[in-house]
Amino acid sequence: MTRAGARGLFLSFEGIDGSGKSTQARMLADSLRAEGHEVVLTREPGGSPGAEEIRALVLQGDPDRWSAETEILLFTAARRDHLERTIRPALARGAVVICDRFADSTRMYQGLSRGDLRDTVDQLHQLMIGVEPDLTVLIDMDPEVGLARAKGRQGIEERFEDFGADLQRQMRAGFLGLAKEFADRFRVIDGDAVPEDVAVRVREAVAPALD
Ligand code: TYD
Repeated sequence: MTRAGARGLFLSFEGIDGSGKSTQARMLADSLRAEGHEVVLTREPGGSPGAEEIRALVLQGDPDRWSAETEILLFTAARRDHLERTIRPALARGAVVICDRFADSTRMYQGLSRGDLRDTVDQLHQLMIGVEPDLTVLIDMDPEVGLARAKGRQGIEERFEDFGADLQRQMRAGFLGLAKEFADRFRVIDGDAVPEDVAVRVREAVAPALD
């Protein structure tokens, strides 16, 4: 895998739904901006106008609308557009890109949840994306705690409850497995603490990459 950009830094956040990774991505963006970095905070699926349109296709409507294989194509199409239009230009400017989910989410959600399609995900990734983040922060969280948290906030995404506790447990184990597989770029952070404390752990974990 080649690095996405010669100058900037590409960080991704991963974790099960309700892990608090979006809050942590935002808090890290705020603290790096306060330190004077140019930060592009973005998310997947989405992050560019075309990819946001694909987001609506994959996250709204009947959960069985697409086969797992079609979902892999749609998420990868969204990612390709996001990479071309948002991520690469930002890295070329020397910005820090913080992406809320990236290809590891496809490896987990499409690669594991409906049969073993991990190889298909990886092949398409190799062909069409070909880059990994410099660093991936995995916010690790007990699914029961995550579910309770997510239910306590408004505007919860439909898919969260569709997935159910068993699948969330499988996803958590899968993410921890990915962290072992890609140990050089993954940093696992315990998300079961107040957001400010988790943010301190995240900031410490990314510090060496910013030097
Ligand atoms: P997200 O907006 O990150 O939701 P949350 O903030 O609740 O984690 O992601 C929306 C959903 O999209 C989430 O359930 C995971 C799913 N997803 C995939 O299935 N595959 C992917 O490749 C990505 C990026 C997300």
